[in-house]
Amino acid sequence: MKPLSAIVLFASLLTLPSPRPADNLAPTPPMGWNSWNKFGCRIDENLIRETADAMVASGMKDAGYKYVNIDDCWEAPERDARGRLTTDTARFPGGMKALADYVHAKGLKIGIYSSAGTGTCQRRPASLDHEVVDAQTFADWGIDYLKYDNCNNQNRAALDRYKAMGDALKATGRPIVYSLCEWGQNKSWEWGKTVGAQLWRTTGDIRDQWASAMTLLDRQVGLEKYSGPNAWNDPDMLEVGNGRMTYNEYVAHFSLWALMNAPLIAGNDLRSMSDSTKTILMNKEVIAVNQDWGGMQGHKIRDDGELEVWMKPMSNGDKAVVLLNRGTTTFEYAVNFTELELSAGTHQVRDLWAHTNKSVSGLIHVTLSGHSAGMYIVKR
Ligand code: GLA
Repeated sequence: MKPLSAIVLFASLLTLPSPRPADNLAPTPPMGWNSWNKFGCRIDENLIRETADAMVASGMKDAGYKYVNIDDCWEAPERDARGRLTTDTARFPGGMKALADYVHAKGLKIGIYSSAGTGTCQRRPASLDHEVVDAQTFADWGIDYLKYDNCNNQNRAALDRYKAMGDALKATGRPIVYSLCEWGQNKSWEWGKTVGAQLWRTTGDIRDQWASAMTLLDRQVGLEKYSGPNAWNDPDMLEVGNGRMTYNEYVAHFSLWALMNAPLIAGNDLRSMSDSTKTILMNKEVIAVNQDWGGMQGHKIRDDGELEVWMKPMSNGDKAVVLLNRGTTTFEYAVNFTELELSAGTHQVRDLWAHTNKSVSGLIHVTLSGHSAGMYIVKR
């Protein structure tokens, strides 16, 4: 081949769209916000609009957050004459399509909620046996993400219930991220992919308390092998900024969730974030660990009771590490580079919260106050 034609061929290859399978909807863990943790049923269209505004104005969008997700209580008490779900008009007078348009105009995406049961957890109409019409309604509104809960499921088989909605979403032709919320009762990590889901809750609901975050953390051990691009274990949404944990506890919660490739779905009021909440939720170095394809989610590599080491292999061979102190007193703690599957000797260690680099020999050694964690990248 002549050099010129080789260059032309090469240039045309560069401009070809890269092959993206239609269902490559969550190649990295989804990032966004959800109304439930902070607002429960106290939601309306102004909150959703203001949250979308705040996601942009606060810098959250630039940090990678893009889904604005409406949880339970958006639904009117009855379906319409044609059997479709409708929006509670007192709370959402403009309707869901207009709200979706508003969110999209901000360069964001919008999510909604239903249950694979006869009613939602708050006893609104839900989608069991209405999957096709509801999926089409969501697609018609321009919905990009569905969280699909497990209340009022009539004890019918989870796989069938979740597959019915997965098939219905796919049949709409609209790319809609499918987030299962069966609380780990039926081990959805084993079959979530087969029903078209990109993520699945592994546990019951989080509460804004250290003990809750630690309980959920313990439930993730061993699930790492089910996780990967378009297949994320979901230890539930973030509580950062909701006020019942300390700054250090929220840093630990966010560090661990990021390391475990959890979806980073903020659950606080984005319109009134303190500087410390912003510092946590928008720590771009921690987010980069979460969004690195990694090959494997972060997992526990050492358990010393109140002290634990969690590690995520990064795609470039670096290791992301969280050193956790679950106890109430200050401890000295260390981890060897060989435990991180690195050579002994000297490595560059980046502290992702202090934003400092150090050249370190043999091990990372830190002082951890009670209920806190440090997060580091050890360069290979
Ligand atoms: C369940 C889910 C929560 C939330 C509520 C809403 O408890 O697990 O995340 O969606 O329902 O009612």
